[in-house]
Amino acid sequence: MRILSGIQPTGRFHWGNYFGAIRQYIDFQHEHDGLYFIADLHALNTIRDASELRQNVQNAALDLLALGLDPTKATLFVQSEIAEVTRLCWLLMTGTPLGLLERCHAFKDKKAKGLPASAGLFTYPVLMAADILLYDSNWIPVGEDQVQHIEVCRDLARSFNAHYGDTFVIPEAKIVEDAAKVPGIDGEKMSKSYDNTLAIFEPTKDLRKKIMRISTDSRPMEDAKNPEGDHLYELLRLVATTEETQEVATIYLRGGFGYGDIKKRLADASERYFDSARKRRIELEENPSYVRSVLDEGAAKARAKAAEVLARVESACGVT
Ligand code: TRP
Repeated sequence: MRILSGIQPTGRFHWGNYFGAIRQYIDFQHEHDGLYFIADLHALNTIRDASELRQNVQNAALDLLALGLDPTKATLFVQSEIAEVTRLCWLLMTGTPLGLLERCHAFKDKKAKGLPASAGLFTYPVLMAADILLYDSNWIPVGEDQVQHIEVCRDLARSFNAHYGDTFVIPEAKIVEDAAKVPGIDGEKMSKSYDNTLAIFEPTKDLRKKIMRISTDSRPMEDAKNPEGDHLYELLRLVATTEETQEVATIYLRGGFGYGDIKKRLADASERYFDSARKRRIELEENPSYVRSVLDEGAAKARAKAAEVLARVESACGVT
């Protein structure tokens, strides 16, 4: 099975991105033919500064490789390096009903708020469909928020096939079920837009400071507390060993502890958890030519497949 997933380089990855998505995506590389790309063309909808975007793409590549994406198993590439994708996007666009896009939430939400939206945002799901269909992808691991976009992709592929004959492989969303819901430092869902994130590769000193700022309630220390649903405990559970998690659960239920101690445990556990990724990231940073060669090889592999599929599509619809 070919698994494909794109990730937008809109900032530094945080725990929510990692435990909610990246970790599971990377795991698929062991069982499937994985194609992973950095969606810089999509990010243009929000980042309109060339050096910031380039820096984000470089950081995304470093982060993914440091976190375990293995280029001998999976293919990693940058979306914009495959020119075929925008061509396929156009071919799909000519068969896309406006109403289908008007119903998509990214555009609808913006419009409902009265914010100006670009044609790029409006046609975002078509580019996403091109990303998927260009590589004959079978499974697309996504979170709930992207399911609608996969439906659009399936609709476009099916109607193209019905009109021009069997051309596209119909992909399926693979909803990542054990994706952890990661709380932010304020207890809300961790999200860049809430400014409540813990970045994965933040300097450890800054990370500690942020962990110390995690909001907690003001019940007396002696009180027994329920660990389930407590965001400090939920965060700890992500990075601590099973034994330590159980130990902390016991402490909560017993009462008579300070949140400061738990925060210290969380900081220590997170340092241990991400230690090897951190070390690996430093090595990668010192070796930009290696990272470049991974992306070049990934692009070459992706391009070969893209050319094959695009030729099939063009011949089906009568261009070239
Ligand atoms: N829209 C996705 C997101 O914001 C990123 C993305 C772009 C993607 N193209 C894709 C994901 C194709 C899966 C398949 O998370």
